[in-house]
Amino acid sequence: MAFTRLCQYSSTILCATGGLACICVVMAIVMFPGDPKVNIRREDVTLTDVEDYVIKNINPDNIRQTLRYLTTGTHLGGTEQELDMARYIGSRWQQQGLDQVHFVPYQVLLSYPSPTIPNLIKILDSAGQVVWVSAAKQKPLYAPEEASPDIPFTFIGYSAPANVTGDVVYVYYGREEDFDFVAASGVDISGKIVLARYGAIFRSNIVEMAEARGGIGVILYSDPEDYAPEGSNFVYPHSYYMPPSAAPFGTIKLLDGDPLTPYYPATESAFRIPEDEAPLPKIPAQCISYEDAWQILSRMGGPAAPEKWQGSLNVTYNIGPGLRESGWSLNLDVNNNNTMTTTYNVVGVMTGQEEPDRYVVLGNHYDAWLFGGLDPNSGTAAMLELSRVFTQLRNETGWRPRRSLVFCAWGAEEYGTVGSVEWTEQFAKQLSDRTVAYLNVDMAIEGNYTLRTKSTPLLTDVVFESAKKIANPDPLELEAGRKSVYDTWVVRRPDPNEPGLPLMQFIGSGSDYKGFQHNIGIPCMDTRYTHDNSTIGEPQYHTLYETFALASEIYDKGFHYHTAVAAMWGDLAVVLSESKVLPFSLVKYSNFISKAQDDIIERFGPLINSQNISLEHFTNAGKAINESVTNFNKALEYLDLKSALAVRRVNDQLMMFERAFIDPRGLPGRPEYNHVITAPSKNDAYSGTAFAGLIDTLSAIEEAQEEHRNDLWRTFAHHLAAVTHLLNTAAKVLTDDLW
Ligand SMILES: *[C@@H]1O[C@H](CO)[C@@H](O)[C@H](O)[C@H]1NC(C)=O
Ligand SMILES: *[C@@H]1O[C@H](CO)[C@@H](O)[C@H](O)[C@H]1NC(C)=O
Ligand SMILES: *[C@@H]1O[C@H](CO)[C@@H](O)[C@H](O)[C@H]1NC(C)=O
Ligand SMILES: *[C@@H]1O[C@H](CO)[C@@H](O)[C@H](O)[C@H]1NC(C)=O
Ligand SMILES: *[C@@H]1O[C@H](CO)[C@@H](O)[C@H](O)[C@H]1NC(C)=O
Ligand SMILES: *[C@@H]1O[C@H](CO)[C@@H](O)[C@H](O)[C@H]1NC(C)=O
Ligand SMILES: *[C@@H]1O[C@H](CO)[C@@H](O)[C@H](O)[C@H]1NC(C)=O
Ligand SMILES: *[C@@H]1O[C@H](CO)[C@@H](O)[C@H](O)[C@H]1NC(C)=O
Repeated sequence: MAFTRLCQYSSTILCATGGLACICVVMAIVMFPGDPKVNIRREDVTLTDVEDYVIKNINPDNIRQTLRYLTTGTHLGGTEQELDMARYIGSRWQQQGLDQVHFVPYQVLLSYPSPTIPNLIKILDSAGQVVWVSAAKQKPLYAPEEASPDIPFTFIGYSAPANVTGDVVYVYYGREEDFDFVAASGVDISGKIVLARYGAIFRSNIVEMAEARGGIGVILYSDPEDYAPEGSNFVYPHSYYMPPSAAPFGTIKLLDGDPLTPYYPATESAFRIPEDEAPLPKIPAQCISYEDAWQILSRMGGPAAPEKWQGSLNVTYNIGPGLRESGWSLNLDVNNNNTMTTTYNVVGVMTGQEEPDRYVVLGNHYDAWLFGGLDPNSGTAAMLELSRVFTQLRNETGWRPRRSLVFCAWGAEEYGTVGSVEWTEQFAKQLSDRTVAYLNVDMAIEGNYTLRTKSTPLLTDVVFESAKKIANPDPLELEAGRKSVYDTWVVRRPDPNEPGLPLMQFIGSGSDYKGFQHNIGIPCMDTRYTHDNSTIGEPQYHTLYETFALASEIYDKGFHYHTAVAAMWGDLAVVLSESKVLPFSLVKYSNFISKAQDDIIERFGPLINSQNISLEHFTNAGKAINESVTNFNKALEYLDLKSALAVRRVNDQLMMFERAFIDPRGLPGRPEYNHVITAPSKNDAYSGTAFAGLIDTLSAIEEAQEEHRNDLWRTFAHHLAAVTHLLNTAAKVLTDDLW
């Protein structure tokens, strides 16, 4: 006991005095004696008992209170306020009695607006006089905290600081085809400022494409067509739609993790590359509200944009270049600053009883662009309630999970999954050997319409089964006879290709599972309650108005949706940590691979055939997986469940399956992605395409000039061989033999 006290104190002192300067601390560990007095025999507790306990004991009022606390102020990554949140989460876990609580610091390069000079966009007349200036901050509209003096100037993370003046060009959603269309219309992006709409692709990709085409700056806004479909009178706080003054923040770094320590953890001993060699944009970018975008769009010249490109502002959207008045121009002045700072992950562990060295990892980030009412703190509040329920169960009964539960609160996710990627880099080997699954909840809710879940095919079945156990939080859906969240999911988000099943989305990038799924090959899933399709994203996402009021007065008055997500998250953790044999969907994965192979052949077969490149080995490898899975499942029926060694052997094979798809060299031209099946496609880091390395190369070949095709074909053949080899490996890891 005395020892515990001491550690507890030293950790508090360390964080209290260390603050942002606390860079010499490698890790503060707080250990608890933990083991309860009562001890039950494992055989007396069934999996269902534990599931029922966890599902029934989540208390919505606890989630509400925690969310209120977490969202009273801003807590941007790498700031003193983020550290306060870390301390709060750590102390909650200590009070709950998790066995270990770790504070894990990383020294990283983040980006901040100047505290004194705002980022502004100006319209200048031919004499250089300022005709109009954009807002420096978003207007307070409803919740008292919106008027806090601590609100930073509106900014985009990692925008280059620069003051540029030029003509503006409207590029719709800034996708590759949009830039191509502008080019085909005879408008050159070079030397221009690009105005793009948020919502179709990851913003980093928009800025990357603008920069590659010689653009000198990017302005991002959200069109009311996509986020306020019922006009500007029916917006926050009267509804969940986006108000005219909202400007969504975001990062435009393309690679995940700390920009100065690629592939290695940003610890004290790290080597840091010079900032000008880091994968950061070289041009300035800024987000603005749609009332400010109107000021620009209403003055733009050039040909009218196509019908589809017209948004719902009351102007004709022109492509440009430039403003209608001759000699007028646009000025974009960004005063951000990239700064070295410390961000912390907080990691709490409940040690497993039988297999303490096997981990089920649950994670959510806790940093927010502003208040984080939904993103991420609806998830943080849910996770803190879940850990309470697990410790309460342990206290009351002496139960412990079979495998260890690891709760992770990630720092600086908004900057591009910085805390989680550094952690998966630091502990890659141990995590690769020992982690059963990573369960991410970036936010518990962004709406109350239906569940939206992404996962590796390996976790599809467990997710479906869990969703069936969670009572429907929607009173109208219950009335309609849909008892579980699964029932609503099937109806409101059906899988177009699998009648009768809900849509399980592909796991792209964009949250903290990136390092786990795409670099290490740990099976991942990410879930939340989402909105309907009347908007293309959650309308207050990353804006000033993503407040506690939005969560508690508009989306989830009773906190029942938060509770449903926490319950499902907890149930998945129970199933994955308690099941003797890991409940992985090998058949789903095998079918998924074979369908993805068929898709490639259907779409690109003739193109590939024109090259004398045979797909036979590739398709045979898919068949080998099919056969191996069939044999494995057959053998499983005869597994001696009483033999701990036999069970462990089979589980080790199951754990290797996803790992088998990891190519240490990465995808062609993208060493930061190692998973050859689930990596997201090149031109949109948010979405997933199976076999992205093959598909992206084939798409590039289709578009390439004749003289570049040979190199691309060589890349394709090389990668095809790598993928084929890894598919064959996956088939083999399910056996005891090496050959
Ligand atoms: C569990 O027991 C420990 C030790 O008595 C206590 O500190 C902790 O608060 C308890 N946790 C819960 C959730 O009741
Ligand atoms: C940026 O340039 C504009 C236009 O030339 C000018 O009005 C403004 O003062 C400059 N900003 C700074 C911070 O120097
Ligand atoms: C068009 O929208 C702007 C900006 O919201 C508003 O100021 C203006 O009055 C509107 N004009 C018309 C004709 O509706
Ligand atoms: C950038 O931030 C650092 C640390 O906050 C500060 O010392 C420096 O003066 C800032 N530089 C600029 C140009 O704002
Ligand atoms: C939105 O969803 C509904 C119901 O699933 C569907 O009928 C409608 O076509 C969808 N609308 C859009 C714009 O996708
Ligand atoms: C669900 O969200 C809508 C806004 O999208 C809100 O009007 C409604 O009251 C919410 N339902 C519940 C049960 O909280
Ligand atoms: C494909 O192989 C045939 C027969 O060997 C040969 O004639 C042809 O030139 C090859 N085509 C290409 C693109 O290599
Ligand atoms: C193997 O392929 C057959 C034929 O397509 C299919 O019916 C079966 O479900 C597959 N089995 C697995 C384990 O993928």
